[in-house]
Amino acid sequence: MDVIAPIADMRQWSRQALIAGKRTAFVPTMGALHRGHISLVEKARTLADRVVVSIYVNPTQFDNPEDLAKYPQTLEADLAMCREAGVDAVWTPQTAEMYPDGYCSFIDVVGPLTDKLCAVARPGHFRGVCTVVAKLLGVVRPDVAVFGQKDLQQCLVVSRMVGDLNIGTEIIVAPTVRESDGLAMSSRNRRLSPDQRARALGLPRGLELARQAYRAGQVTSLKLIEIVAEELLVHEGVDLDYCDVVSLKGFKESEFADDACVLAAAVFVDGVRLIDHVPLAGQSIPVKAD
Ligand code: PAF
Repeated sequence: MDVIAPIADMRQWSRQALIAGKRTAFVPTMGALHRGHISLVEKARTLADRVVVSIYVNPTQFDNPEDLAKYPQTLEADLAMCREAGVDAVWTPQTAEMYPDGYCSFIDVVGPLTDKLCAVARPGHFRGVCTVVAKLLGVVRPDVAVFGQKDLQQCLVVSRMVGDLNIGTEIIVAPTVRESDGLAMSSRNRRLSPDQRARALGLPRGLELARQAYRAGQVTSLKLIEIVAEELLVHEGVDLDYCDVVSLKGFKESEFADDACVLAAAVFVDGVRLIDHVPLAGQSIPVKAD
């Protein structure tokens, strides 16, 4: 497995793959890899001859400096996991090269995809994500890139940007991977103590209870949101950041839920921010009872 840092070297690696007629699949990450990331790598391997993973904690997508400072960094373990998963190249760009002095170009996706949920809760977040993803794609020039569905809004925003800017990479969305108790895998889970982790389960539980209520006939969005909020209230130190019913038809907030809707929520568990969502017509979240 090649481990590459300079942009010029990554560009050269990609050029050689292209000349050799190899298809490249790309998995962009911020490191602190877990089984969810490896499932993206496994998907990528089915789509191309070569798999590139980037590991870069992108400063421009953090609205909160403390969150950036506390973001877990586990490079050696990440490299071992990539090696084991059969990754061909890991790219670890450096901030001095990604955002040198005088850097001033950013990409904004505007409209319904970025006027709600994480876009409102974390101003500037998607601007940072789109900017870095466009930069990463511009260097790696993959045929296909794989993103995790847990970050649903990110998947939609990035897909839109890649289409609008004619970037030419196919965007594939791979399913959320959960722990056996239902918690969606996230690098941020590492920041949770066992007690905080137990309380964090209120999020998938609340979403699953609301999904069940929808299946039993409750279509009023406010009621579904209340179900999530009530489940979270039981857990001290778990604060709801947002919870919303959004229709995937046009990514609109919806007063009444239907099968095209997802219920999306973000919470803070003693300051650690976790997001999750459930498609209301989708499969159950396999949550365990208390
Ligand atoms: O999902 C992430 O880990 C990041 O937002 C991404 C896509 C790697 C961009 O920094």
